[in-house]
Amino acid sequence: RFDKIDAVRQYLHTLRAEQTIGFVPTMGALHEGHLALVEAARRENDVVVSSIFVNPVQFNNPDDLARYPRTLEEDCQKLELAGCDVVFAPSVEEMYPQPPLLRIHFGELETVLEGAFRPGHFNGVGIVVSKLFNIIQPDRAYFGQKDLQQVAVIRRLVQDLSFQVELIRCPTLREDDGLAMSSRNRNLTPDERQQAPALFQALTMARDLLLEGQDVVQAKAAVINFFTSRLEFRLEYVDVVNADTLHSAQEMLAPGQTAICLAAHLGKVRLIDNLVF
Ligand code: PAJ
Repeated sequence: RFDKIDAVRQYLHTLRAEQTIGFVPTMGALHEGHLALVEAARRENDVVVSSIFVNPVQFNNPDDLARYPRTLEEDCQKLELAGCDVVFAPSVEEMYPQPPLLRIHFGELETVLEGAFRPGHFNGVGIVVSKLFNIIQPDRAYFGQKDLQQVAVIRRLVQDLSFQVELIRCPTLREDDGLAMSSRNRNLTPDERQQAPALFQALTMARDLLLEGQDVVQAKAAVINFFTSRLEFRLEYVDVVNADTLHSAQEMLAPGQTAICLAAHLGKVRLIDNLVF
């Protein structure tokens, strides 16, 4: 386990000559969704590195940053059990001895979905992932479909900056009732936790409507309608997009290409989810 950039660099430097490195960046408060990424990395690489760093630069809401769960010791145990070899858990001072002046704009990739509601978020993600890729220099990096826009943004970052890394998108892990696993689920009250699977229900409803031949406008209207009768939720957006380009889709696309994405507030917690089909 390392908390210094120089130390983890040095450690990986000698390994890299003969072994492939799989990398799973996280912000901790780990759940089975994160661990599934580690397991995928374990299967495909000689060495598995995971980072735990709650990146202040990507939080556009100070309360969200303050409330973000921090469980480092527990996380390290889970990572080890899942087959992770190296944990990199730096402090904020180590990663940002001075606030970065660099700003990354992702153009049309960040004016939609999450980007439209979380100004500056993908700048922060782009900066931290670039730093982590430079520090770890992985052969493969694993990201969850749960954050579909993040995958699109990082794929473009890799292309635009010629990072030598293969990106792997892994499926979203869900609780038995359909709720997508998320570190933020811990902040739900028991009552809210009961309500939270409504996001998944709304997504499956919209997907089924599209598969039955209804159009995108009808499917989106059905989701909006679904949440108007559930007063504990505040739906932020629902959109049907191309899963890779994030361009708004007017109709269903080729199999595996259509994504329905939504975000909703439930109490103090903001939840996101999507289905790709
Ligand atoms: P974090 O939210 O901790 O997520 C780390 C990785 O786990 C991301 O790739 C995310 O998509 C994936 N993940 C989260 N929930 C998942 C689930 N239910 N099923 C499958 N994968 C899931 O995403 C971040 O951290 C940060 O933005 C980061 C990339 C680390 C940069 O700071």
